[in-house]
Amino acid sequence: MTKNQQDTKHKPWGGRFSEATDAFVEAFTASVEFDKRLYKQDIAGSMAHAQMLEKVGVLTKEESRQIQDGLNQVASEIESGQFNWSVSLEDVHMNVESRLTEIIGATGKKLHTGRSRNDQVATDLRLYLREELDQIAAEIRRLQAGLLDLAEREAATIMPGFTHLQTAQPVTFGHHLMAWFEMLERDFSRLQDCRKRINVMPLGAAALAGTTYPIDREYSATLLGFDKPTANSLDSVSDRDFAIEFCAAGSLIMTHLSRFSEELVLWTSAQFGFIQLPDRFCTGSSIMPQKKNPDVPELVRGKTGRVNGHLISLLTLMKAQPLAYNKDNQEDKEPLFDTIDTLKGCLRAYADMVPAIVANHEQMREAAMRGYSTATDLADYAVRKGVPFRDAHEIVGKAVAFGIETNKDLSELSLEELQQFSAIIEQDVFDILTLEGSVSARDHLGGTAPNQVRAAIKQARQILNG
Ligand code: ARG
Repeated sequence: MTKNQQDTKHKPWGGRFSEATDAFVEAFTASVEFDKRLYKQDIAGSMAHAQMLEKVGVLTKEESRQIQDGLNQVASEIESGQFNWSVSLEDVHMNVESRLTEIIGATGKKLHTGRSRNDQVATDLRLYLREELDQIAAEIRRLQAGLLDLAEREAATIMPGFTHLQTAQPVTFGHHLMAWFEMLERDFSRLQDCRKRINVMPLGAAALAGTTYPIDREYSATLLGFDKPTANSLDSVSDRDFAIEFCAAGSLIMTHLSRFSEELVLWTSAQFGFIQLPDRFCTGSSIMPQKKNPDVPELVRGKTGRVNGHLISLLTLMKAQPLAYNKDNQEDKEPLFDTIDTLKGCLRAYADMVPAIVANHEQMREAAMRGYSTATDLADYAVRKGVPFRDAHEIVGKAVAFGIETNKDLSELSLEELQQFSAIIEQDVFDILTLEGSVSARDHLGGTAPNQVRAAIKQARQILNG
């Protein structure tokens, strides 16, 4: 016998085959290199399956005990790095089962009674994603908590607010940070919603049609912490909606992080100079000694591309797939795993970095001053004195043009200078032309006034502690 023929004999599905798998095809079709990371969930699923088979009388108490001891041993071999992963055993499922049989003998071969790798892999994936999702959600919470601390410190810090990246109206830095908080809050709740559809159990669907054994799926679901078993065996083995939903939620998380990143990159530039990132989150240039580059935000911004790509990969993978399981689905893992890894890395970097952001109050204030950001306040002032808004807009536009010509902010014009544009302007105009006056005047739910920011932070803390 050649080595290949021996391998074929050892394939758990080798019975009807008369020639060995082509060596290239074997490697080409194998998934063990990437699905071995499911080993813990694969073993947990097998444990529950064995306990269920014992409960319904398909396995004896002794057989079930042997299987569980054996699986524990497999787990510790994997964890201590002693386990011999074999590509010829194709995937994590057959590697684990085959080693179990080596350890406990013939009883190991009974584990696969009433199940298939098709329901097995769908179950493993859901268990795995459920755990990872919880960790990602916890990282979002950590980042949100950091944002709240920073927003609290900066609740009254003035900066320019932008539309079209042109100075629009003054806002508080705390308010800007709380906008980021809100985006993350939606991300968190999207994950929780997705989790509900992850947490249903396909095990028992077997290959596609169910099984002839008197299985108790409610029991296995309880053992594995699933909310309930899935309702249709064909759908159970083919459904990957939960992975797509997770990747869609992941794409939005990355979209948000990329937007934060873009602002951090702009704000750390010499031209803006609004904030500083600590040196430990930046790198230098090998040629330009003066450089301190915001690499972490840039890299996070860049990584958004791969996560968006993975979402499209999974959607395309599932498009037009007939029921039920198809080998195509083996391709779900790498995009999903890379999405998980990327999200964890980016969120961790942000959660570590955000509390260490230092705001340059003077530069932010000057920038707000430079852009005629209180022009709307002057228009609103005129409206309060009886001028129709469109006329007020025209008056202030002329005052701004005069300010540009004479190189002065509106608050730096004299009362006489302002009165050239409208006689209704009086001494009290200077109260509203200050940056502080402008932000404090926007004192309603969702507005930028420092006390509204503090109220929003208080509310947010309740959400995080609840
Ligand atoms: N490695 C496979 C996957 O990842 C496991 C299921 C294989 N099932 C089968 N009948 N070939 O999807």
